Amino acid sequence: MSKKNQTLGEFIIENQEDFAYSSGELSRLINSIRLAAKVVNHEVNKAGLVDIIGAHGETNIQGEDQQKLDVYANDTFIKTLTNREIVCGIASEENDDFITIEGHNKDHKNKYVVLMDPLDGSSNIDVNVSVGTIFSVYRRVTPVGTPVTKEDFLQPGNKQVAAGYIIYGTSTMLVYTTGNGVNGFTLNPALGSWYLSHPQMKFPETGTIYSINEGNYIHFPQGVKDYIKYCQEEKPEGPYTSRYIGSMVSDIHRNMIKGGIFIYPKSSQNSSGKLRLLYECNPMAFIVEQAGGKASDGFDRILDLKPTELHQRVPFFCGSTKMVEKAEEFMTAKD
Ligand code: AHG
Ligand code: MN
Ligand code: MN
Ligand code: MN
Repeated sequence: MSKKNQTLGEFIIENQEDFAYSSGELSRLINSIRLAAKVVNHEVNKAGLVDIIGAHGETNIQGEDQQKLDVYANDTFIKTLTNREIVCGIASEENDDFITIEGHNKDHKNKYVVLMDPLDGSSNIDVNVSVGTIFSVYRRVTPVGTPVTKEDFLQPGNKQVAAGYIIYGTSTMLVYTTGNGVNGFTLNPALGSWYLSHPQMKFPETGTIYSINEGNYIHFPQGVKDYIKYCQEEKPEGPYTSRYIGSMVSDIHRNMIKGGIFIYPKSSQNSSGKLRLLYECNPMAFIVEQAGGKASDGFDRILDLKPTELHQRVPFFCGSTKMVEKAEEFMTAKD
């Protein structure tokens, strides 16, 4: 049973049985992520004082101008995960292809693959608005002892063994699940320790916050336009509020605490939407479902989608179950 203000280390030891299959490796994997998160947090908190904001000068495979912090976070997580002898492969939003980690005996004996969005909400870095990191963990499906293949990374989200995010906001939090609910830890930067501040987080079944970039309204499918109009109509439960930060981790984290829906739909400009299935939608969907919420592409459950490409994008409807169901009604009516 988790106790508030327990440290992350104590929590992991007390809940060891939560890590399916794990002989301690998954715990060590979470430990390495928390170390990398502290390193990145240190830089995020200094952004503006040191030469870590602004563009890196390259474009990533997403066609986005990489920010220095995108690259710094990517390098930090890759280095930390590689050194910990737990992971046999890494795929990142910032890397064209996956990275094979053969292990120090060069025997490819490690059992887990990690997929990540090292810095979510890059457009917020230079304007001092919260950003995040998202990670997703699977057991490899190809034989241990052989190099990982793309197949290990193209598993449906329902095969994840762990997923989480770090949010670098007014405080820095690590929120993750290993399939037994969602727990949130807050970093005490003075001590460098993470404390269980949000045990067993629950997504409110409904809410009055909707998060969508209405600047794209004219390009949205009719079902999305109709749902936005529905959000703006008088309601017995009171008016809805529009809240959109431009960093999905922050929008979904707020909605998980207050209730709400986050939507990044397809549009006439982006036929599959913008968000990446492997690095953003699958991990967030796992976390949200574990907290009692819902995540779909407007029609089908995100976690059941079979990925075909490392960087494929999907429309994303995520949050309070009743709100996602209502939005899906509008999508189906106009499909
Ligand atoms: P990233 O910074 O990792 O590329 O992701 C940004 C994503 C997501 O965090 C956010 O909700 C969305 O992009 C914002 O996109 P728009 O600016 O098009 O609304
Ligand atoms: Mn990006
Ligand atoms: Mn992102
Ligand atoms: Mn990113």
